[in-house]
Amino acid sequence: MSVTVLKSNQLRGEINIPGDKSISHRAVIFNSMASSKKISIRNFLPGEDCYSTVNIMRELGVDIKIENDKNSKPIIIVNGVGLHGFHEPASILNCGNSGTTTRLISGALAGRDFISILSGDKSLNSRPMARIIQPLSEMGARIFGRENNRFAPLIFAGGLLDSINYKMPVASAQIKSCIIIAALRAKGITKISQTAISRDHSERMLLAMGAKVTQDKLDIYIEPSDMDSIDVEVPGDISSAAFWMIAGICHPDSELLLKNVGINKTRSGIITILKNMNAKIEILNKKDVAGEPIADIYVRTSDLRSTEISGDIIPLLIDEIPIIALAASFAEGVTEIKNAEELRVKESDRITTTVNFLKSCGVEILPTKDGMIINGNPDLSLKYGSFSSEMDHRITMTMAVAGLLSSNGVNIIDGETANVSYPNFWKELSNLGAKIE
Ligand code: S3P
Repeated sequence: MSVTVLKSNQLRGEINIPGDKSISHRAVIFNSMASSKKISIRNFLPGEDCYSTVNIMRELGVDIKIENDKNSKPIIIVNGVGLHGFHEPASILNCGNSGTTTRLISGALAGRDFISILSGDKSLNSRPMARIIQPLSEMGARIFGRENNRFAPLIFAGGLLDSINYKMPVASAQIKSCIIIAALRAKGITKISQTAISRDHSERMLLAMGAKVTQDKLDIYIEPSDMDSIDVEVPGDISSAAFWMIAGICHPDSELLLKNVGINKTRSGIITILKNMNAKIEILNKKDVAGEPIADIYVRTSDLRSTEISGDIIPLLIDEIPIIALAASFAEGVTEIKNAEELRVKESDRITTTVNFLKSCGVEILPTKDGMIINGNPDLSLKYGSFSSEMDHRITMTMAVAGLLSSNGVNIIDGETANVSYPNFWKELSNLGAKIE
């Protein structure tokens, strides 16, 4: 689907942010593995990635129904089968484009008394999987992957799970959650030592479900334990809100209110950075919903200054770096992004896709091995171009926001990739008054 987003004269409005992708996956997986009681998940993200997770849980024997609320938003009804209740699936389990589906469900399939296979699209099957095969194998699971156990398809062929002491080589919530899920069914207490804090939605939700997961600074301890099903109201996804934050801040005439955004401190690095950059951003109506803090975020046209983004804040804004790079392009001064080598193994190599895109639009930007250096210009006039996102939904949406801020628009060849995490993205953009062709 080819889409051209043209320069927009004014941006005004209020946006209801769709459900958080990470929390939607976890709500489905954990409740599928919980004791059998029907629960409902509201404000579930109806994106392709989260439906991959729902479909796989169904193929493993979980009864999941999808109903619509009065606003036609899906309510996911899950009837869990318990920790040991999955059945052998009849065919290969399709993870689509979703790394979270693959890595979290790997923890759930490790050490079962049946065979299962996880596979996905071209982008997913080229993303690193040794990072989960290695700890799960150390726990006793039998797992095989393509190219010497490096890539999916992944074959799970039983094994008996024991606890481990695992020092994480990278700060990754997917690896951490994969091990936590396997550890719930292992013998003994598993310890995971993190190098830095990454998103903690698994720990929060499992605790609320009665699982024995405790945390001491960077260390997490997991005791084998059953879980009770819980209803979940999914907060709005700050990673989706990020596109509107940058649009609202960088556009010369704008004012946007983003409703019900999850502001968990393991996710809200972007707010800290935008404040450092002098952005006009206000956090309003803070409250807690099901153990996760949420708020409305109000943004206005701002004069940005450059900043440095590095160290422990990187995992707290990892998915927002492409859109932050666009903001840095309009900031006064040089912004350096460091220690973000994980960007190279996302849905695309996001250092390369972000830098190539912004450079073609006329931004002074250089890639580095673990980030990028951006020489910002408040008077920047982004040039027209036609681009592919390389199957990466966050790059697609970054390109769309660039179109709004450009002089002659931006054409995106594969606009449909936004459906992976934001199915209403294009509709929301035109509701704001953006010109789309
Ligand atoms: C996610 C964790 C992050 C993030 C991804 C979702 C999750 O990946 O990039 O979009 O839901 O746990 P890593 O944990 O691999 O950094």
